[in-house]
Amino acid sequence: MKALILSGGKGTRLRPLTYTTAKQLIPVANKPILEFVMEQVRGADIVDIGVVISPETGQQVKDAIGGGERWGARVTYIMQDASSGLAHAVKTARSFLVDSPFLMFLGDNLIQGGVSRMVKDFINSSADSFIQLKQVGNPGQFGVAVLDEKNRVVKLIEKPKEPPSNLALVGIYLFNSAVHGAIDRIRPSWRGELEITDAIQEMIDSGCRVDASILEGWWLDTGKKDDILEANRVVLDEYARPEINGAVDQLSSVTGRVEIGRGSRIKNSIIRGPAVIGENVVINNSFIGPYTALGKESKLENVSIEHSVVLNNCFLKDVERIEDSLIGNNTRVSKKKDRHKAVRLFLGDDSEVFV
Ligand code: DAU
Repeated sequence: MKALILSGGKGTRLRPLTYTTAKQLIPVANKPILEFVMEQVRGADIVDIGVVISPETGQQVKDAIGGGERWGARVTYIMQDASSGLAHAVKTARSFLVDSPFLMFLGDNLIQGGVSRMVKDFINSSADSFIQLKQVGNPGQFGVAVLDEKNRVVKLIEKPKEPPSNLALVGIYLFNSAVHGAIDRIRPSWRGELEITDAIQEMIDSGCRVDASILEGWWLDTGKKDDILEANRVVLDEYARPEINGAVDQLSSVTGRVEIGRGSRIKNSIIRGPAVIGENVVINNSFIGPYTALGKESKLENVSIEHSVVLNNCFLKDVERIEDSLIGNNTRVSKKKDRHKAVRLFLGDDSEVFV
């Protein structure tokens, strides 16, 4: 069994942040989403991992994941010259996949509980493909599936105007080599992409068996700003531990599950978990509220912030209340005299703003 992680694409819905950062590398709870994906793939005992990258952000992804040694994996990079669809990515990866069965995992998706169970079940079944589904309130934004009474997939449509069910395709799939013939037979969709949804429909139409299961736990598709904040909330809720490696002075209080990285200094401040603070962060006279992740090397002074993700090397000063915000690397935020009380920000890397 091999794995194919899709880490290409343009990330247009996460601009301005994705002008400079691959969307799969945006951190939740201070860890890039792609690293969670690597962990989940390795958790299913898969060692041979192909990572699809794009010319725009491929080098960043390579720098972050390397050869996969950190996870005990063997990583092969596959350059997809244009974002021409998920099935196009599989086609591009053909010489890596050969005829092996494989797990395909979209590099910006995460599910509760990992994928090891689903991989085992697929290996022991005679299905040609397996897809993970989740009941959602807005199925029109995803691929949507219709099942029969045995949980076999009978129909699939990509982002339908009139969804035939509320079962969305989570970005996690299993295939045997029958998928390649199906991809060769499909044509690009209305959005000009070779859709994996169409390839799976083609498998069904040509007599393949496609099984599905419906996920009970959480699913995080981190395509937009609010999705990242929600992912940060869910992941902090589940994984944050109390671990203080920095220095907290006598005038400060730290409550709940809070991780503070090495070299960080907290002075005259209140930190309320779940929250995570990276290495070498200085917090002075501030309030850090629940569901906040602060990247390394940042400095906060006279600031109140909660339910926000701040990347590395930022400087936030004199802002009464920052909430629901996503702030890129090397950004400076400070106050322009007595204007807003509370601000919600979405800032790309290297910004300087007065709020
Ligand atoms: O998130 C689940 C949804 O993902 C499914 O419900 C849909 O059926 C499926 O088509 C997909 O839809 P999206 O429109 O959300 O896919 P997106 O373009 O965001 O791409 C998903 C990931 O795959 C992302 O990490 C970028 C990567 N990608 C995307 C394309 C189009 C590639 O590596 N190459 C590509 O050509």
